[in-house]
Amino acid sequence: MIEWTTANIPSQTGKLAIVTGATGGLGYEIALALAGAGAELILAARDMTKGERASRLIADKHLGAKVSFELLDLASLTSVADFVDRLCANGRHVDLMINNAGIMALADRRVSADNLELQFATNYLWHFALTAQLLPLLRGTHRARVVSMSSLVHRQGRIDVDDLQASRSYDLWKAYAQSKLAMLLFSTEPQRRSDANGWGLVSNAAHPARPGPN
Ligand SMILES: NC(=O)c1ccc[n+]([C@@H]2O[C@H](COP(=O)([O-])OP(=O)(O)OC[C@H]3O[C@@H](n4cnc5c(N)ncnc54)[C@H](OP(=O)(O)O)[C@@H]3O)[C@@H](O)[C@H]2O)c1
Repeated sequence: MIEWTTANIPSQTGKLAIVTGATGGLGYEIALALAGAGAELILAARDMTKGERASRLIADKHLGAKVSFELLDLASLTSVADFVDRLCANGRHVDLMINNAGIMALADRRVSADNLELQFATNYLWHFALTAQLLPLLRGTHRARVVSMSSLVHRQGRIDVDDLQASRSYDLWKAYAQSKLAMLLFSTEPQRRSDANGWGLVSNAAHPARPGPN
């Protein structure tokens, strides 16, 4: 495990970064830091009003930053496909893909537009689909990077292959931990495929931590 802070971000000038769930929380802070390092940003999330506000805030804080918002609902495979179609039509290569959007420990079992357990779909499954579908745009860049937001909670996680969608028995933390373990396991696959095929891609998983003595 490597620890780093925003101070370790090298210049991102000329790079295009997509951050999912960038309208608030960590995603917004990640996008802000990347814009500060010179990256062009696509904020990808499900709420247009929040997205336009976040874009404005970042552009105000980093004058001259190129920031745009694109609708992406990670609880819907159709929305993922629409997002990918718009990006592919644009044809621009992607240097940084930050798979950050997530929901945590929902009190009751809820389902996505595709009838999948909502945390599994949002936190992991449709990020997996998104990354897979964007691979052509990531492969065209020298050392593109995919960062998948996991959590130390993955240590309590178990992939319940007999009840992946928690339809027989739902526990909020179990479902969240499973989604974060799935994300961690997933993060190794783009790296494995890149190494095997010479794509030059880097794939990492991350856990966000507050700076401090611990
Ligand atoms: N905060 C922590 O202590 C912590 C610790 C470990 C790991 N993490 C992970 O870090 C990531 C960010 O956490 P956070 O604390 O910053 O969460 P947050 O403040 O709740 O922000 C989550 C972001 O994801 C977006 N989002 C939620 N559902 C979405 C969907 N279906 N489609 C598109 N965007 C969606 C939210 O948009 P809306 O505003 O529209 O909902 C928001 O922009 C998550 O993956 C989380 O599991 C967080």
